[in-house]
Amino acid sequence: MRKLDTKTIVVASHNAGKIREIAELIEPFGFSASSAAALNFAVPEETGTTFEENAAIKALASAKASGLPALSDDSGLVIDALDGAPGVYTADWAETGDGTRDFQMAMQKVETALQDKGATSADKRTCRFVSVLCLAWPDGHTELFRGEVEGVIASPPRGTAGFGYDPLFQPQGYETTFGEMSSEEKHGWKPGDAAALSHRARAFKLFVETCLEA
Ligand code: IMP
Repeated sequence: MRKLDTKTIVVASHNAGKIREIAELIEPFGFSASSAAALNFAVPEETGTTFEENAAIKALASAKASGLPALSDDSGLVIDALDGAPGVYTADWAETGDGTRDFQMAMQKVETALQDKGATSADKRTCRFVSVLCLAWPDGHTELFRGEVEGVIASPPRGTAGFGYDPLFQPQGYETTFGEMSSEEKHGWKPGDAAALSHRARAFKLFVETCLEA
């Protein structure tokens, strides 16, 4: 386990929603964090078949390009009735073909796939959001952290907060979707808290415990 001994890192992402959430989570720790998007780094091809592989590809690309430690996130929605789809292909389900992403369309695809499986009641619409964070150093060393949160696919999607599939995801034990939560509610965590809510905040808490705390 390697500790992080600098306060300057790169957030290895081109996804504005993820960059904002990671910036919010890391802000209390006094980091200066640029992003792969802001630094105009090329978008690496995600050729892995696991969240861990793709997270490492992204973090290593930014660490090598910047000469700084880089923190990536590879994440997705894993739906039981769809045998784990869209999983590592969650972003691909939103591709329009012209280089843009349409999450209304992606959420409709999920609903159609669930209807095709007859998954109309909550007990048949169970899923989890997964986030794997990877901290990579320019010398090729990596540390990986996985966070998961269980929930159900809401119908219809609700809320306009957050990004991506947030309006579709209702965490277990909650009446609201991530799309109806403030950022603070979705993270459900601040430094010192014993537990976190979102997949990303759960992975981030492990990163803090492993790489930041003595
Ligand atoms: P990737 O990690 O770049 O392969 O993309 C992950 C995909 O999952 C993106 O399409 C995101 O929109 C979606 N996703 C991951 N985390 C979240 C989240 O916290 N809220 C909503 N969508 C998410």
